[in-house]
Amino acid sequence: MSRVDPAAIAGPIERWFEAARRELPWRSPGRASRRDPYVTLVSELMLQQTQAARVAERLPGFLDRFPSIEALARADEDDVLAAWSGLGYYRRARLLHAAAKAVIDEHDGSMPPDHAALLSIPGIGPYTAGAIASMAFDRPEPAVDGNVMRVLMRVLGLAGRADGRANIARVRELANAVAAAASSPGDAAEGLIELGAVVCSPRSPDCARCPLAEACAAHRDGRQHQVPEPKRRAPKRDLFITGVLCRDGSGRTLVSARARSGLWAGMLEPPTIESADRHATPAELEALKGVRSVRPQHGLEFEHLTTHRRVLFRLHQGAGEATGDVSWMTTEQIEAGALSTPHRRILLDSVLP
Ligand code: ADE
Repeated sequence: MSRVDPAAIAGPIERWFEAARRELPWRSPGRASRRDPYVTLVSELMLQQTQAARVAERLPGFLDRFPSIEALARADEDDVLAAWSGLGYYRRARLLHAAAKAVIDEHDGSMPPDHAALLSIPGIGPYTAGAIASMAFDRPEPAVDGNVMRVLMRVLGLAGRADGRANIARVRELANAVAAAASSPGDAAEGLIELGAVVCSPRSPDCARCPLAEACAAHRDGRQHQVPEPKRRAPKRDLFITGVLCRDGSGRTLVSARARSGLWAGMLEPPTIESADRHATPAELEALKGVRSVRPQHGLEFEHLTTHRRVLFRLHQGAGEATGDVSWMTTEQIEAGALSTPHRRILLDSVLP
């Protein structure tokens, strides 16, 4: 393992970021650091599990709807989930809402600049605390996400996987030192993230364009493709979801909200049965609340992959009635509600008449 001079990382990464950074809606024009703390909170939570291009599309709409942390704290959870539609991992939206309330109730309405105080806010872990402290307040704090872990593991030439304890400790130590050596810790932190996204990618690192190539042990040894070692992934589990699409005379659709916890918690769906090993039969679907009859459909099937699951959807048509928490909703009401990506396809882009 090699010793690395943090100044040989901080300077080159800041200069590279200044010149090469992509214009993205969470970056203020001209200068990346000292961004609005609320925008940094929202965007960094969105960016944790969603691609930058998708976040770039959705962030401006979210901020139009909730322009300040007060507006977000005061909002109904369902409205926050609706504004999060299409970004996936909806637990983040609930945590963001809880974070906004905590800032209003416990921090006099402004995001604290201090790493420890940020960590006490729900939904803010070490990465997000470091991102906000550095990018919004220019504090010398590191922000180590998966991208930065990969970049710095390569720089250090570490063996093993990115989730290994010793590797995490070694990378943190270097990231701390880089933050301390940076003239703009925000640019250094975001520069490392950007480098991981556009140059030091998992499968095709472009060392010829890399400002850290000279300092990089993996590059020197030609091992950039082998660092970090890949995770062994558990195979995805199957989930069969069989639903009934019922329309009334005025084109409304029968929907209910999913359970408050678990996959797509609280989001809209048609009457549905889930199983780990097979699709439900029409007779089983006819026993669901609100479903009166099912006309079996052939061909309305598709697959949706989540991180851990292969979800197999099959939809039938049917007739139904509103009862209990199953209700008729217009297209406009559904569009304004909380929808997962596959349920948007089922309820709004449906090929059914
Ligand atoms: N991923 C996480 N944070 C990011 C940022 N600030 N810019 C680009 N990609 C990111």
